[in-house]
Amino acid sequence: MSKQTVDVVLVTGGSSGIGAATVKMLAEEGKTVYAASRRGTVPEGVSGKVVPVTMDVTDVESVNAALAGIIEAEGHIDAVVCNAGNGIAGPVEQTALEEGKYQFETCFWGAHNVIRAVLPTMREHSFGRIVTISSVAALVPIPFQTFYSAVKSAVLIYTKALSLEVKPYGIQCCSVLPGDTKTGFTSARKFTAESQSESEYSKRFKASVSKMEQDEKNGMPASKIAAAICKQLNRKKMNPTSTPRIDYKFFGFLVRILPTRLMLWIDGLLYG
Ligand SMILES: NC(=O)c1ccc[n+]([C@@H]2O[C@H](COP(=O)([O-])OP(=O)(O)OC[C@H]3O[C@@H](n4cnc5c(N)ncnc54)[C@H](OP(=O)(O)O)[C@@H]3O)[C@@H](O)[C@H]2O)c1
Repeated sequence: MSKQTVDVVLVTGGSSGIGAATVKMLAEEGKTVYAASRRGTVPEGVSGKVVPVTMDVTDVESVNAALAGIIEAEGHIDAVVCNAGNGIAGPVEQTALEEGKYQFETCFWGAHNVIRAVLPTMREHSFGRIVTISSVAALVPIPFQTFYSAVKSAVLIYTKALSLEVKPYGIQCCSVLPGDTKTGFTSARKFTAESQSESEYSKRFKASVSKMEQDEKNGMPASKIAAAICKQLNRKKMNPTSTPRIDYKFFGFLVRILPTRLMLWIDGLLYG
């Protein structure tokens, strides 16, 4: 009988926030966890088998080298959690091409680099679990964080399409959609260069980002998202998507049933 359980997991963005909490939880469950990030550090106070990996997900060579090292050591990788990410804020009119690309570089192409590198070994073993981290912002777009909303939407649809491609090979995919979560994400957020000069947008932009920052600082603990990720990895059949916390689940439901005009009106009241 082919493999049915997840024993070896690679978590990208394992040095902070949601990734660090996931590394910790998976290790406590007894899994072998590779925690990858540019810093290459592992969360403090973690017990179990955690191996730090220095990897920049935007650098294909760095990803391939890290994956090859894990496969050499373990013989296989059962699951990846493509969690590494960052955010950039700024009005669309004040976002240069390179700044927009920066947003896609880590969150989208970074995840793709890792997934592309891991699929051959998963197919070879007829077993694999892939978790990507989307966001509630993929469903409810955030003005002035348009590129963030767009990339998280792209991650979500990529994951759904991928799940159909790889299903015959015993590989399952799930995209987790966190809402506001208290992590290093808020302080790591970048701002587009033009958004820093006074303009027509300044007042609304500052108010919107400041509300978002407050919501994140008062947000869920990273462990709540980690628990949702672990739950999916332990399921025989993963859900295609997972949205932690009942109120965010309800948002997701509303988005599906409300007319778009009404949904955008409510969205605008919150973040416009
Ligand atoms: N916090 C929220 O409210 C929220 C809501 C929805 C979705 N999310 C998503 O959740 C994921 C995790 O974010 P977080 O909130 O936990 O933020 P965080 O605390 O800032 O953690 C981000 C992690 O990504 C890593 N990372 C960034 N760029 C990388 C790169 N090029 N290569 C490898 N690792 C990289 C960072 O490590 P190094 O700096 O050491 O590389 C860090 O470990 C992201 O995809 C984010 O978009 C967060």
